[in-house]
Amino acid sequence: MAWSKADWRAKPRVQMPDYPDAAALAAVEEKLSRYPLLVFAGEARTLKSELAAAGRGEAFLLQGGDCAESFAEFSSNNIRDTFKVMLQMAMVLTFGAKVPVVKVGRMAGQFAKPRSAPTEVKDGVELPSYRGDIINALEFTPEARIPNPDKMLEAYTQAAATLNLLRAFSKGGFADVHEVHRWTLGFAGGERAEQYRDMANRIQDTLDFLTAAGLTSDRNPDLSTVDFYTSHEALLLEYEQALCRQDSLTGDWLAGSGHMIWIGDRTRQPDGAHVEFCQGVLNPIGLKCGPTTTAEDLKVLIEKLNPKNEMGRLTLIARFGAGKVAEHLPRLIKAVQEMGANVVWTCDAMHGNTVKSPSGYKTRPFDSVLSEVREFFAVHRDHGTIPGGVHFEMTGQDVTECTGGVRDITDEDLSDRYHTACDPRLNASQSLELAFLVAEELSAMREERQRAAS
Ligand code: PEP
Ligand code: CO
Repeated sequence: MAWSKADWRAKPRVQMPDYPDAAALAAVEEKLSRYPLLVFAGEARTLKSELAAAGRGEAFLLQGGDCAESFAEFSSNNIRDTFKVMLQMAMVLTFGAKVPVVKVGRMAGQFAKPRSAPTEVKDGVELPSYRGDIINALEFTPEARIPNPDKMLEAYTQAAATLNLLRAFSKGGFADVHEVHRWTLGFAGGERAEQYRDMANRIQDTLDFLTAAGLTSDRNPDLSTVDFYTSHEALLLEYEQALCRQDSLTGDWLAGSGHMIWIGDRTRQPDGAHVEFCQGVLNPIGLKCGPTTTAEDLKVLIEKLNPKNEMGRLTLIARFGAGKVAEHLPRLIKAVQEMGANVVWTCDAMHGNTVKSPSGYKTRPFDSVLSEVREFFAVHRDHGTIPGGVHFEMTGQDVTECTGGVRDITDEDLSDRYHTACDPRLNASQSLELAFLVAEELSAMREERQRAAS
């Protein structure tokens, strides 16, 4: 039987809201299903082929952005700053990996959030949990927490405007390779800061050389534009279905809400609604893999999500937590190898490392994030498999949400600029710092491969 975009409705669903007003929901779905798509099928296919290259070690994926985009934080400056930090990180990673970096934002659609508890208690008052601005509101009142379908229309509008600006930045000159390196590192002293400055200087030298050799942007448009893709967790299936359309060229179905969509660690039930929806669309699909992902489940999921065993179709996003990668990743690698499956291995170094700080904030220690990335590389090195990318929650803003880093944000600092609507993000300087450290891993891996090949 052919797949249909509404089939998920017959499957068990988790983490989705129960809308109290069915008529209002139906009206929004009808309206949204007439709105233009945000992305084109050809773009999703191009991204898939770029991810395939990452799976083969010929490219590297950088996926990053907010944990949850919010209506309140929506502004040109925020979009610009996150985009800019991602370009800077990409440049550093390109330098380390000597392969193209595939840039995918958690942007223009990352609104719906799975939660670990259905309700939240504050000062003895219990209310339904906040589930992201596309569903309800963060404010701690009974009214704010009622799921409101109209929010889907506002999310759509924000996503469309965000993507519009990202497209303008990508192609309009802002992304020029000669401009994006103008990072203001502002790192104080210390050994690490010294290493970053050293790498930044080497990148600068390379750019100066290119310019001197006549490789200027006016003559080489590739130096002045980038390809930038969008992604989000496909959690709110009413929204996803309304934007799911048939590609007129091939007859295949496209999730028109973003280039890449992923399935979260809490919604990856092999017989559940989310897997059912994602299996039928042509987009590249991400699958979060956590400590409870079994080899058996992974095999069923790979079978369902990538039946043609197409490289680039499925990205496995491992998120185990620092100190736990060696315990969990090998069984997944073994399962993939037993099936001969083509997957892109990436590491989300955020979601396994969330802790409550003594001051009460949800935070992530920079060193844990870094450790998880390093463990991810080490396990792949031991298995002869390919680390294809990294996934971060980050922002271009100077927030204080994750502790540590060269500027050493302490527990007491967290209250200064803690703005996230959901999970703690790396700030601009921590993001760039992490890119330098990942670049070192990539460089070391390259050198090792070259030695082995010679
Ligand atoms: C997320 O990426 O914001 C998220 C909730 O991740 P996970 O599903 O891995 O917990
Ligand atoms: Co998150």
